[in-house]
Amino acid sequence: MRIGMGYDIHRLIEGRPLIIGGVDIPSEKGEDAHSDGDVLIHALIDALLGAIAQGDIGTHYPPSDMKWKNADSRDLLRDTLTKVAEAGYTIGNVDLTVILEAPKLGPHREIIRQTLQEDLKIPLDCISFKAKTKEKVDAAGRGEAVEAQAAVLLKPLD
Ligand code: C5P
Ligand code: MG
Repeated sequence: MRIGMGYDIHRLIEGRPLIIGGVDIPSEKGEDAHSDGDVLIHALIDALLGAIAQGDIGTHYPPSDMKWKNADSRDLLRDTLTKVAEAGYTIGNVDLTVILEAPKLGPHREIIRQTLQEDLKIPLDCISFKAKTKEKVDAAGRGEAVEAQAAVLLKPLD
């Protein structure tokens, strides 16, 4: 088996959508990014690439490459899953955490898990999603940023 962990952070600004795990969350502020800025999927991609020791999101999907410019993060995730399969692995489970002062993500937990399941194609009880505040401490705590952490376990394809 292989383990992987990923992290990402994006600044939050007004007038941008807040996309978390492919879901558009009603919010006054959203991620500042060239792409959709999906902080959770970016952390998940880094965890998957980390588990197969194949670098990181920036090396595989540079914004400078026209192929990936303005790409939907879910497209990048699906491409990463092909790399995982080519390396001979499949996902055991994922455990995901978003650190965001507001809004509350608990009410959106099930739609986020179901949306991720469409791409991950693993049982729902193998997809964990959690949310935390930063207790008003530092940039995320002041509502200036959103962070995400991802842990994944890969198992060999039979
Ligand atoms: O950060 P804190 O420990 O105060 O969060 C308490 C609970 O609030 C979390 O366990 C989670 O259920 C929920 N929460 C949430 N959305 C956030 C932050 C926290 O649903 N953005
Ligand atoms: Mg990112």
